[in-house]
Amino acid sequence: MKKKDLVSRRTFVKGTAAATAASTLTIVKAESVRGTQANSMLEIGWIGLGGQGTRDAYLLEKTGKAKIVAIADYFQYRLDNARKPVEGNQQRPNPNNFDPKKVFLGIDAYKGIMESKVDAVLMVTPPGFRPEHFKAAVAAKKHIFAEKPLAVDVPGCHIVMEAGEKAKANNLSVVVGLQRHYSKAYRACKKLIDDGALGTIVMAHSAWDMGDLWKDRRGKRSDWKTQMDYEVEHWYFFKWLCGDHIVEQSIHNMDVINWMLGSLPTKAYGSGGRLVRKDIGEIYDHFNLIYEYPNQVLLNHSCVQIDGVRGDVSETIRGTKGTFTTTAGRGGTGGARIEGSRGRRDNETPMIYAYEGTDDRHYDQEAEFFVNSVLGKGEGQDKYRNDTKYGVESTFMSILGREAAYRRECIGWDELWNSNKRLTFKGD
Ligand SMILES: NC(=O)c1ccc[n+]([C@@H]2O[C@H](COP(=O)([O-])OP(=O)(O)OC[C@H]3O[C@@H](n4cnc5c(N)ncnc54)[C@H](O)[C@@H]3O)[C@@H](O)[C@H]2O)c1
Repeated sequence: MKKKDLVSRRTFVKGTAAATAASTLTIVKAESVRGTQANSMLEIGWIGLGGQGTRDAYLLEKTGKAKIVAIADYFQYRLDNARKPVEGNQQRPNPNNFDPKKVFLGIDAYKGIMESKVDAVLMVTPPGFRPEHFKAAVAAKKHIFAEKPLAVDVPGCHIVMEAGEKAKANNLSVVVGLQRHYSKAYRACKKLIDDGALGTIVMAHSAWDMGDLWKDRRGKRSDWKTQMDYEVEHWYFFKWLCGDHIVEQSIHNMDVINWMLGSLPTKAYGSGGRLVRKDIGEIYDHFNLIYEYPNQVLLNHSCVQIDGVRGDVSETIRGTKGTFTTTAGRGGTGGARIEGSRGRRDNETPMIYAYEGTDDRHYDQEAEFFVNSVLGKGEGQDKYRNDTKYGVESTFMSILGREAAYRRECIGWDELWNSNKRLTFKGD
């Protein structure tokens, strides 16, 4: 994006906020803010140069309408790796686009990105840092592409929710990495469910059951200078950074169930524990939860990270007329179906909708929708995306399940939402 465009947009956004405050009758259309950018290249600052960050950054550049110009990471080795030339068919953002003056290191590296002249920020650090980064990005008037989860505790959820509202008021786009919302098949199912394809909803089930993960990332404490370095490198296993695996992974399932049901649970109860994985960190290796929704609909959710357990990453919703089911895919939607009712003696299940392909690339589509939204070229519900609300609700729902399992108590949605326990680094 040209400097001139950027300045004019920023000035305009600032002016817009002032104008809106001065008169409640002034409604400024977002396309006015974005109009000047229609044919320019979006410039993005990328925070957190790990696995998912590399994928997101690559896909944003693949749209042909965006480039990564600024980078930030906690570790020097991550910055060095990102700047290596791309070899063969590696799927990485082009390091030639990085401005050497916009390379930031350390725990406060994100501040360098916020102070840089970039249009948008890609946030892909461990989620424990997300609320701070998200709030700073909105304050700096940047569009946001933030990976899920958006927080690891309740205060973090509040920070992001408030910042997301400010983003909306300032016509900033926010896309959250709950990529199933950008799947054509999931969207088709959502429409059918809203039109009554399942009849009266009876129950739901979801799972993220798998073996242990990050087996190659179990370094010794003595290999790292400080406890903080050690925990940041092995963030998945520490609650203040990861939120536990129910928050980090099951958020996807819960997000789909809430989306399809069009409602949120009122309470949760269940259990979990640390049965097998005891060699690192503090997170659990299994959870089993019941979430209660209005109208007596229960969601049973399980998530396990124990070798030998049957793998299952899926969502199911059963109704009086049909059943919605999904199966996870690699890099895209695996399967999404709506089957009609089948009697016990019927030979065939009537299929209302079935997607089993490989072309529904939800990660790619998500990147495309984000760039188009920022450039004011989105359509319909994607015109001015702001995923914050459902992003926070799904994050919070996974935290609710975690807390219910930790405490072995039934906890109400409102009760937890009005609490303020923070997860923090315990120190060396
Ligand atoms: N949407 C999806 O399907 C999906 C898939 C995988 C991961 N994710 C999410 O992406 C995020 C990152 O996961 P990952 O697998 O890429 O982890 P990763 O460990 O591979 O990458 C994290 C990166 O962030 C850096 N980092 C840590 N703290 C930082 C800080 N304070 N400031 C700057 N950089 C910091 C690390 O050094 C590392 O480079 C997580 O929130 C995860 O849940 C989403």
